[in-house]
Amino acid sequence: MEKFQDDLDPDITFYVVDRTSALLPHYDTRRLVFRSGSTYAYSSIYLDKSRRIQPIYEIVQRLAESYFPKMEQLESALVLGCAGCSVPRFLALSNENCRIDGVEYSEKMVEIARKYFINDPIYDHFQLIHDDAFSFVKKTKEKYNFIFVDVFQAETNHPTMLSDDFVHDVDSITEEESISVFNLLSLSREECMKFALRHAEEFSAAYVFDEMFHYYVVFVKTAKSSSLKGFESRATKYVRLLERYFSH
Ligand SMILES: C[S@@+](CC[C@H](N)C(=O)[O-])C[C@H]1O[C@@H](n2cnc3c(N)ncnc32)[C@H](O)[C@@H]1O
Repeated sequence: MEKFQDDLDPDITFYVVDRTSALLPHYDTRRLVFRSGSTYAYSSIYLDKSRRIQPIYEIVQRLAESYFPKMEQLESALVLGCAGCSVPRFLALSNENCRIDGVEYSEKMVEIARKYFINDPIYDHFQLIHDDAFSFVKKTKEKYNFIFVDVFQAETNHPTMLSDDFVHDVDSITEEESISVFNLLSLSREECMKFALRHAEEFSAAYVFDEMFHYYVVFVKTAKSSSLKGFESRATKYVRLLERYFSH
């Protein structure tokens, strides 16, 4: 285990912890834990590279591959809020040619991720950018097929991630065939439904998925209604579909 102190806030401590077992090495994980008063596990990866699906955010990974069953078709991806880069690892292991950008505003998290989580040639097409997610989406010239919005302050969704302005910025950097997943951990079912309905018109469809009272709102852009049908039938094998809204 290694311990790091945040340079800006002395109350914040980070730990990198390996959990290994001589008997079951393919279950070995590395975690990045953030502690400030209470403890929150932020990221966890399997150390065995043959394990593509990572131990946290399995639903997000399943949603990505439900939309792109041939992951080679996923050309570009963006993860906003990266910590130990679990979802970027899944993307890199799923398609070695996918261009992946990650944005993380904690300088210490970026330093730790570079030292312990992304120091491997599988990340040749991944760039971890030290920036604020909300300003990054305003200035980037890139467009993406998959976006995962995962910006948290401890266990609370950052309020800006629900703003019309931010969703509009996300819309403007998505490709015509794309899926954007918002992790809305701290929101109620009703708040998630309102959020999805409010923005459905900007995309082709908006979905609310429920993983045991943890909600994800997914915005899809496509010209093909068959993509929506295929996505729904594959995604619902893994997670409950609560509601969907189509643009007119
Ligand atoms: C739950 S963790 C991300 C886990 C990550 N998505 C993964 O795949 O392992 C949330 C992260 O969001 C970062 N964060 C919070 N607000 C942010 C912002 N405005 N811009 C960029 N990152 C932010 C936090 O520092 C934290 O590392």
